[in-house]
Amino acid sequence: MKAVAVVPGKKELRLVDHPLPQISSEKQIKVKTLDVGICGTDREICTFVYGEPPSGDDHLVLGHESLGRIVEVGSGVTRFKVGDLVVPSVRRPCSAHDCKPCLNDKQDYCTNGQFTERGINQVHGFMTEYYVDDEKFFTYVPEELRDLAVMAEPLTIAEKGLSQVYAVQKRLPWACAEPGSPSGKGLRAVVLGAGPIGILGAMKCVVEGFDTYVYSRSKAPNHKAELVEQIGAKYYSKYDTTPQELAAEVGNIDLIYEAVGGSEFAFEVLQVLGTNGIFVFTGIPAPERRLEIDSDILMRRIVLENLAIVGTVNADRKAFEDAITDLAEFNKRWPDTIKKVITGRYDVSDHQELLVGKSKGIKNVISFS
Ligand code: BGC
Repeated sequence: MKAVAVVPGKKELRLVDHPLPQISSEKQIKVKTLDVGICGTDREICTFVYGEPPSGDDHLVLGHESLGRIVEVGSGVTRFKVGDLVVPSVRRPCSAHDCKPCLNDKQDYCTNGQFTERGINQVHGFMTEYYVDDEKFFTYVPEELRDLAVMAEPLTIAEKGLSQVYAVQKRLPWACAEPGSPSGKGLRAVVLGAGPIGILGAMKCVVEGFDTYVYSRSKAPNHKAELVEQIGAKYYSKYDTTPQELAAEVGNIDLIYEAVGGSEFAFEVLQVLGTNGIFVFTGIPAPERRLEIDSDILMRRIVLENLAIVGTVNADRKAFEDAITDLAEFNKRWPDTIKKVITGRYDVSDHQELLVGKSKGIKNVISFS
């Protein structure tokens, strides 16, 4: 079976012949891959600063954003049947007997760092023809989302991010549309970056009722800015608007959702987060940059204005279910726009260009036939 893999020992990215996986326990399902999304993490693994093969293997099969169709189910599978479309989650629990998050299917909050991640960290990924896993790691996808559901995984980052925002937001009952149930109504969100994480995050913010602004490095007009305007958000470019000018336009910024990956732009904009605001970091930069920031001023503001800073990584099944619900909502509201987030579908033979070539488009997908 064909698979796209990195061989870190040789600093190689190549197609490998990978054994066809077999169901080995009654709770497992076997999935035929349809689509696999390419993201910044995959490209970073291809620079060999991140990612690790399973122990005993010299290679790691890439791919953690996937959509597939079930071709076989174990005898104890209760949630799915052959023919169902599914998306898999990424992280697998650690085996420590005292890691409460992992024992409770919340491995995205694993406390000891011993978790594994498919296609990233010690378990092979989905950039191959078939894969097998326990049914509990999958979420059902309705047929109408066949062409979109490969974006579920990147959207889960926003789902988990927003659920943390709401956990914090409960501290301001008067800012919740209904008591005890926070939403974006009446609040202003700035999304940093207009890549796939940014655009999907902006769509989620709009659906949640936030007045939404996307602040990106690229000068408008451009394709991404057009998509942003189509969903009713406003696009600003750092090229012609400073963070301070942006804050003056927006008013009190209640939420900043970082989706640029790098720390420099993120920390610059953190400084204009509004009073009682929440900043969500999603990027995982390679540790290269050291910044000089007005740390006293920032610390004073964090304390005197109750600023909250949250990181969000990975996601649980609830976030995947919410992502599927929201993709259906995006498809209802903006059918043309959501399709255009996928800027290219490619054959597996194009993997080199997609993973180590110049980054282009928004979400690129490898389709397996
Ligand atoms: C994935 C997450 C993963 C993270 C760190 C991201 O690209 O979406 O699922 O936890 O990388 O490896």
